[in-house]
Amino acid sequence: MSQVPTPHIGAPEGAFAPTVLMPGDPLRAKFIAERFLDEPQLVTSVRGMLGYTGVYRGVPLSVMGSGMGCPSMGIYSYELFHFYQVENIIRIGSAGAIHPDLKLRDIVAGLAVCTDSHYSDQFGLPGTFAPAASYTLLERAVTAAREQNVELVVGSLLCSDKFYDDAAGLETWRRVGTLAVEMESAALYANAARAGKRALALCTISDRPLEGESLPSEERERSFTQMMRIALEAAIK
Ligand code: ADE
Repeated sequence: MSQVPTPHIGAPEGAFAPTVLMPGDPLRAKFIAERFLDEPQLVTSVRGMLGYTGVYRGVPLSVMGSGMGCPSMGIYSYELFHFYQVENIIRIGSAGAIHPDLKLRDIVAGLAVCTDSHYSDQFGLPGTFAPAASYTLLERAVTAAREQNVELVVGSLLCSDKFYDDAAGLETWRRVGTLAVEMESAALYANAARAGKRALALCTISDRPLEGESLPSEERERSFTQMMRIALEAAIK
């Protein structure tokens, strides 16, 4: 029985490559497809969540927006893993620094994820689920960064449900060595684990909320391109 198109992805069977890069912003997915992929084809645009498939250095590759937050990432990554036979998803996003040594434009990889999201409660585990990256994808990203002479900081992320947080709890996460805060990796890693697939979150540091610093939007572009090159090479290794 065919389960595609899905409620949220309007693409036919086989429309996605085995590896999908996922920025949060669908317009960023369009930009990446047009700038980095050969023969990019728009494969879905339901609710404006654009997804493309093309070719990178001879290898089929897809890119699709995830939207913001665990519920949105949860929906799209679930449908890609379960209904489109996607094997690998690499999130390419931005994050706010928590660790004091991180600077604007640094690039981080989420080895593990701390979270205030209850996304993985659905598994009904008799303990706490530990969202973790695929070692295979992480190793590829580390190798790609090394080859490009770019520093990739590997460690734990905080995946939060709150961008605007009344509790101002980031200092507490700083105490336990958390690198940076973003909003999607916990759902992505949980879905990958449940599906027996692979996931990795790469993020550029766009702001330092504890210091009140942020990158001007024109500057985000340049640091984003460096992360993109790591993700693209990791995707085809
Ligand atoms: N993504 C980028 N900066 C962020 C922040 N400060 N909090 C949550 N997600 C983010």
